[in-house]
Amino acid sequence: MFAVYAAEPSPDDPMAALRVGERPEPDAPDGWVPVTVRAASLNMHDLWTLRGVGIKAEQFPMILGCDGAGTLPDGAEVVLHSVISSPGWVGDETLDPRRTLLTEKHQGSFAQTVVVPARNALPKPASLSWAEAACLGTAWLTAYRMIFVKSGLRPGQTMLVQGASGGVATALVQLGRAAGLRVWASGRTEAKRALARELGAHETFEPGSRLPERVDGVFETVGQATWSHSLKSLEPGGRIVVAGATSGPTPPADLARVFFLQLSVLGSTMGTRSELESLL
Ligand SMILES: NC(=O)c1ccc[n+]([C@@H]2O[C@H](COP(=O)([O-])OP(=O)(O)OC[C@H]3O[C@@H](n4cnc5c(N)ncnc54)[C@H](OP(=O)(O)O)[C@@H]3O)[C@@H](O)[C@H]2O)c1
Repeated sequence: MFAVYAAEPSPDDPMAALRVGERPEPDAPDGWVPVTVRAASLNMHDLWTLRGVGIKAEQFPMILGCDGAGTLPDGAEVVLHSVISSPGWVGDETLDPRRTLLTEKHQGSFAQTVVVPARNALPKPASLSWAEAACLGTAWLTAYRMIFVKSGLRPGQTMLVQGASGGVATALVQLGRAAGLRVWASGRTEAKRALARELGAHETFEPGSRLPERVDGVFETVGQATWSHSLKSLEPGGRIVVAGATSGPTPPADLARVFFLQLSVLGSTMGTRSELESLL
C-alpha cells in the first residue's frame, strides 16, 4: 500500500530519512481494526520520529502519522486515539508506563490503511470534515487536557500561550477562547501573531516581552526559549502547564521563583480515550 515513512533514524538531517512509497498491507491482530485513512495530520512528533527521538532503532522503517480519521470495514466513520495502552491496562492510558503512541511501536496513519485496537477508533461527529477530524487526536487532544484537565483555570482568567502558529498552540488559543478565558499568545512574527488573533487570541506579544499584567496560567510547548518568560509572567500561585520542549528540555529551573511565588508546574501528555470522546 501507499505510505509515507521514515526509513531510519536521521538525527542531523531528518528529511533524508523520509520516504514516499510502498509498505506491506498491515494485518489486524485480534481486537484490532483496520481503518481506511481519509485524512491524517502532521505533527512535530513526525519530525522527532524522523530524527529517531522517542523510537528505538529496531522499529524502523516506521510509517509516520500519529493521528487521523477514516472508515472501518463496515463504513463507520472514526477518529483515531493514538495512545495505545498495554493489554489489560485499566484507567488513564497516559499513565500506563508501557503505553505507546502510534509511530513509536505500531505503524502510523500516513498510509492507505492503519490498524489500531478497536477501542482506539472513536465515532467521528458528522459535523467535522475529514481534515478537521484528523487534527483532533494529537494536537487538539493535548491542548484539551492541558486546559480542562490540568490547568484548573476558570472562565474570565487569563492564559498565556507560548507560540502562536503551532499545532498545539493554535488548538490552545481556540479552545481557551471557546471556554471563556482571556487568551494571550506569543508569536515570533507579526504574521503568526495575526493568525493567533484571527483564531481568537485577545492580545498577542513578541516572545519574551513584558506583559500588561501577570497571568493566571501559562501553556508551554516551546521549552528552553520561553521557559523563564513563562515563570516571570505568572501571578503568585499561578500554574504552568507543560506538554513539550521544542527548543530544548533543560531551561534554568528558577526554583526560588517557583517556591516564593508558590507556582505550580504541571506536566501533561496527550489525553485519555474519554477525554478525546469529550473533545469530539
Ligand atoms: N506531550 C504531548 O503529549 C505532546 C503532544 C503534542 C505535541 N507535543 C510537543 O509539543 C511541541 C509542539 O508541538 P506542535 O505539534 O504544536 O509543533 P509545531 O506545530 O511545530 O509548533 C511549534 C511551536 O513552537 C513555537 N516555537 C518553536 N521554537 C521556538 C522558539 N525558539 N522560540 C519561540 N517559539 C518557538 C512555535 O512558535 P511560532 O508560532 O512563533 O512559530 C510554534 O508555536 C513539540 O515539541 C511536540 O513534540 C507534546
